[in-house]
Amino acid sequence: MKKWLKIIAYVILALFVIAQFFRPERSNPPVDASRTIQAQLQVPSNVDALLQRACQDCHTHNTNWPWYSNFTPVSWFLAEHVNDGRRHLNFSEWGSYDAKRADHKLEEIAEVLEQRAMPLPSYLPLHAHARLSEEDNRVLIAWAKGERARLNSNAQKMVP
Ligand code: HEC
Repeated sequence: MKKWLKIIAYVILALFVIAQFFRPERSNPPVDASRTIQAQLQVPSNVDALLQRACQDCHTHNTNWPWYSNFTPVSWFLAEHVNDGRRHLNFSEWGSYDAKRADHKLEEIAEVLEQRAMPLPSYLPLHAHARLSEEDNRVLIAWAKGERARLNSNAQKMVP
């Protein structure tokens, strides 16, 4: 009986080791500073700090990949979240959004914050620093709405 347990343990260990060769790509693509949200919008330093603290890992190319992201299958789970997050909203590629899209993204930022849906709840237990207080949340929502209003009034001024 004991012998069987040992064999099973070795098999599981071997599978775990083999699984380590199947890694997702965890990349941080290069950032063109002129295309970032900081360059494209007015981002006061307190807002910038909040975005970096709470959103950066999943919505920029400056992801801080934690040590445990080296292990399969955790690595797949994390890479999937980051890729998905970047696909939906990418502060490093803000310059690729046209005016309509940028407006919509800002609207969604305010929306997800009002619903307390971001940062993703599953991320918070291991990233306590990303937690937003009520006040932090209010600051971000007010900023997103303010930028929307500013961009819209600029757009109207440009219509002859
Ligand atoms: C742990 C990763 C993670 C963090 C941290 C995170 N997000 Fe997200 N975010 C995602 C993922 C994944 C999606 C896409 C799937 C979804 O909507 O749940 C997403 C979607 C969004 C969307 C929807 C965009 C669209 O076009 O559908 C907005 C807006 C957003 N996030 C804003 C934020 C903001 C603001 C912060 C920081 C306060 C933040 N997120 C932090 C992972 C994250």
